[in-house]
Amino acid sequence: MISPRNNHRSLALVTAASALLLACLSFGPHASLSVHAEQSAALASDQADWPAYGGGPSGDRYSPLHQINRSNVHQLKLAWSFDTAEPGGLQTNPLIIGRTLYGFTPTQKVIALDAATGKKLWSFDAGTPGFQPTRGLTYWTDGTHATLFAGILSYLYALDPATGKPIASFGDNGRIDLRNDLGERNILQSFAAMTSPGILYKDTIIVGFRAPETKPALHGDIRAYDVRTGKLRWIFHTIPHPGEEGYDTWPKAAWKYTGAANNWTGMALDTARGIVYAPTGSAVDDFYGADRIGNDRFADTLLALDANTGKRLWDFQGVHHDIWDRDFPSPPSLVTVRSSGQQVDAVAQTTKQGFLYLFDRTTGKPLFPIDEKPFPPSTVPGEKASPTQPVPRTPAPFARQLLTEDMLTTRTPEAHAYALQQFRTFRSAGQFVPLSLNQQTVVFPGFDGGAEWGGSAVDTRTGVIYINANDLPWTGGLTASKPGRGLGETTYQTQCALCHGVDRKGSPPTFPSLVDDPKHLTDAQIITLIHSGKGRMPSFPNIADARLIALLAYIKTGQDPAASPLAPPERGSKREAEPSAAPSDHAAKYRFTGYRKFLDPDGYPAVVPPWGTLNAIDLNTGEYLWKVPLGNYPELAAQGVPDTGTENYGGPVVTAGDLVFIGATNFDHTLRAFDSRTGKLLWQGDLPYAGNATPATYMIDGKQYIVIATSNARNPKAPQGAAYVAFALP
Ligand code: HEC
Repeated sequence: MISPRNNHRSLALVTAASALLLACLSFGPHASLSVHAEQSAALASDQADWPAYGGGPSGDRYSPLHQINRSNVHQLKLAWSFDTAEPGGLQTNPLIIGRTLYGFTPTQKVIALDAATGKKLWSFDAGTPGFQPTRGLTYWTDGTHATLFAGILSYLYALDPATGKPIASFGDNGRIDLRNDLGERNILQSFAAMTSPGILYKDTIIVGFRAPETKPALHGDIRAYDVRTGKLRWIFHTIPHPGEEGYDTWPKAAWKYTGAANNWTGMALDTARGIVYAPTGSAVDDFYGADRIGNDRFADTLLALDANTGKRLWDFQGVHHDIWDRDFPSPPSLVTVRSSGQQVDAVAQTTKQGFLYLFDRTTGKPLFPIDEKPFPPSTVPGEKASPTQPVPRTPAPFARQLLTEDMLTTRTPEAHAYALQQFRTFRSAGQFVPLSLNQQTVVFPGFDGGAEWGGSAVDTRTGVIYINANDLPWTGGLTASKPGRGLGETTYQTQCALCHGVDRKGSPPTFPSLVDDPKHLTDAQIITLIHSGKGRMPSFPNIADARLIALLAYIKTGQDPAASPLAPPERGSKREAEPSAAPSDHAAKYRFTGYRKFLDPDGYPAVVPPWGTLNAIDLNTGEYLWKVPLGNYPELAAQGVPDTGTENYGGPVVTAGDLVFIGATNFDHTLRAFDSRTGKLLWQGDLPYAGNATPATYMIDGKQYIVIATSNARNPKAPQGAAYVAFALP
């Protein structure tokens, strides 16, 4: 079987000493190495890297290593751990190159560890303390020179992998600012954060970034930069400019005042074909799209771009005119399947809705039928929902789709009564029901999926995909903005209410309440938080001066100070200085009421379990091989309710040892190994914190390791900290 899968994987499978030979290979014809050849290479060598985010550019999270396998996995023991000595979140899937592990700490310091012992070799502090997620790094080499690329806030740094020092010849003394090249006048007022790493193609690094969920937001264009100089090589406009394909699916001036439609979750790359697959998210504002009526291509789109030029080859829009924040949440996975009697190189893309789409990688033709199904119209003035949305017929969704009364929690009679009383006030009618005024609409699976940023793993030998999913309902709604507000309230309602709620009560623990909680923070700490962001909170460098003072007063009291200036008429964006770009004032009329998980009074999901699952789907047929609950709440398990599944973030890894390794669960601090063929749990290892990250596996001196980043940011009640933890056979 000819496999165009990643050259980097094979690059991983030999010793560092043969790097030069590999450099030739990595752009040469060896992309046609067969899976079997790769595996024997793995067997022949006592070294195997984890050279790229998710293991390789194809996003399959598959490792040919099989020293750890079904028969001995129960013997896995802690090999080493490295405590970052910092609180905060850690979502990093580290790289392992030779004997060195490259990762991040929660405050976005880059670290290099001895991958056999966990001993720290160096650390790089960019001097701009950040708390944004950093899911990985990118390692480039031509055999002579090597560069470690690290995204820190809006900067892409080029570091010397041996020392952690910036490489001065790249960009501006070792870094470029990704807020450039997007047509922005004042980049210092804009937010961008490189939460997922760039992907390599030849001598370019292709990047996306995280953008805000409300205006103002930068355009989420996809870009390629020269790995040596940091010069822009190409750009693809995800919000088309006049004359470009897709421009007519937006209002004429929207490209000036709207933003986002960004790739924040990472990409996959077919090295042999030179095609990069970049899934994008929604355009701003997320939940009310009256100033972007139309299908809004290329938001919520899987883009297949020529990796040499950025030219669009094909695209598939998963949500037309998104008004639910249904970003494509996961990097795609490349796979080869048998379809209508032929071997077809395909790309699989999962969604927050729990759908999986499978396309021919070259043509974009769906390999399972997709129906454009009708959905209800919006009742909110100015809004126009798309009359149809694409729904795949196969495979069946990997998360539940419709919340009904008989699915409400029965955990205790009190919890059930509460859930029933709440539920009867909601509208619950499945996918793609537009949010309405004065009533909450059930979004199930919730705003966090379904699938999430961890992505899926594909056993390239069998074409089976492993997907972890959240399976709990959230609700959302819209509310009319009040006219005549002061500056503090306006700023709060436009920039903060999305997450902290129109009433400042948030949706704890994910989105903290600002009614009482920030009392432990000084004004200076709150200002730092607003200007640098934290975890899921983006930063707001544009909020300063009088606006900042008024906002501070408002978040503390829920009122504008008496003398506060009135807000100027609301404007959609920084680009409106150009007269033709004035957005419609629709955008300001209605606001999202805030993300709300539908929980019972004790904080557990108000639906019957499973609340999180791990799924195995045969992509040759679209049939499920197995599905198991993933994770538990230790206190419920102690009461004899072990298999609830829980929310989980971070992806799986599948190995030739027929094992699926996954942490991801929020509450039980466990790394698990499942039999990839049956879903049977074969081993679980204790972690100091939640393994909210994707593991990596590698071999040094003939010993296979499995390592995962752990942290407790998603469970504020638990002890805080962050550590890397590695396991191996004794
Ligand atoms: C996209 C969602 C989002 C938006 C928009 C957002 N926040 Fe946050 N905010 C969060 C999250 C998540 C946290 C918790 C971060 C953590 O501790 O990891 C947080 C934390 C905070 C805290 C600290 C609360 C505590 O008890 O520690 C304050 C204060 C705060 N936000 C204020 C604001 C203000 C002011 C705005 C608007 C300018 C804003 N936030 C916009 C998501 C958001």
